[in-house]
Amino acid sequence: MTAKDTFKSIDELAQALQGVGYFAERRLITAVFLSLKLERPLLLEGEPGVGKTELAKALAKVLGRPLIRLQCYDGMEQREALYEWNHAAQLLHMRAASQSGTGASPQEIEREVYQKRFLVKRPLLEALQTKAPGALLLIDEVDRTDEPFEAFLLEYLGEYQVSIPELGTIKAEVAPVTILTSNRTRDLNDAVKRRCLYQWMDYPDRERELAVVRSQVPQASAQLTEQVAEFVGRLRSQPFASAFQRAPGIAESVEWAKALVALNTLTLDPEVVQDTVGILFKQREDIAAITPLLDDLLAPAPTVI
Ligand SMILES: Nc1ncnc2c1ncn2[C@@H]1O[C@H](COP(=O)(O)OP(=O)(O)OP(=O)(O)O)[C@@H](O)[C@H]1O
Ligand SMILES: [Mg+2]
Repeated sequence: MTAKDTFKSIDELAQALQGVGYFAERRLITAVFLSLKLERPLLLEGEPGVGKTELAKALAKVLGRPLIRLQCYDGMEQREALYEWNHAAQLLHMRAASQSGTGASPQEIEREVYQKRFLVKRPLLEALQTKAPGALLLIDEVDRTDEPFEAFLLEYLGEYQVSIPELGTIKAEVAPVTILTSNRTRDLNDAVKRRCLYQWMDYPDRERELAVVRSQVPQASAQLTEQVAEFVGRLRSQPFASAFQRAPGIAESVEWAKALVALNTLTLDPEVVQDTVGILFKQREDIAAITPLLDDLLAPAPTVI
């Protein structure tokens, strides 16, 4: 069975993801469902900590596919993504061959060292060569690479194949499920976007945030969990959001709930928020900005009539 046939409906996929602790909105599940059905890579963009990387991990689990991760960074080169020759093994082989007196010519020995067994596979090649049910390739934080690297990805993204000068074209037997993530530190090349389905991932709504915190911090009381979701939700919405440079993601809500449990907190108050604010914000200016807003942030929610 290929990834295409694994889930019959969007609801079935949503349930499977929930079963491994991943809670997603319907738009996102639809994008994942379509990327499986159409065998197209999925590009996820969004703020830090909204669950981009986690989605790839959860999807690998529900598909029963090995997760192969290419963590991108500034200055990354093709050989780190695709393959390298094992120079040490090649040298040893050449030395052994020339000393063994088999009479092999230098040209023959040179040909021998460019065989597959001297190739070190990196994530892209490994993903292409993974047998059924195939791999899930996560190309994480692709916006950290440069334009030539993006151009190099096009052949893989469009056709699930790569060309290696010494070995020719290698095409996937089973199309790897491919997820790219970006924090949008720069705009990606249009050619990359055209080859992918695209989904922007926003901060979660209150219900989804509650579900994530409940499932990952079950030791927290129902009251504390609700207060955390309410508080973080307010930080991300107006009028408070404009006071901060960067709003906390789901990752921060989960960490904060864990910290509050560790401190035996039963209910939020200004003091405990002040003491733990370094979990929600990582910028000095944001930490300073929260103090005058605490009373309003902690005020009871207005009752809807
Ligand atoms: N929808 C979700 N369901 C369950 N847990 C989630 C969800 N979204 C985020 N999380 C939690 O938040 C943590 C951080 O998420 P993740 O690392 O995927 O964010 P990200 O979007 O990749 O962030 P970054 O851009 O900084 O890499 C995860 O380890 C997980 O605990
Ligand atoms: Mg990530």
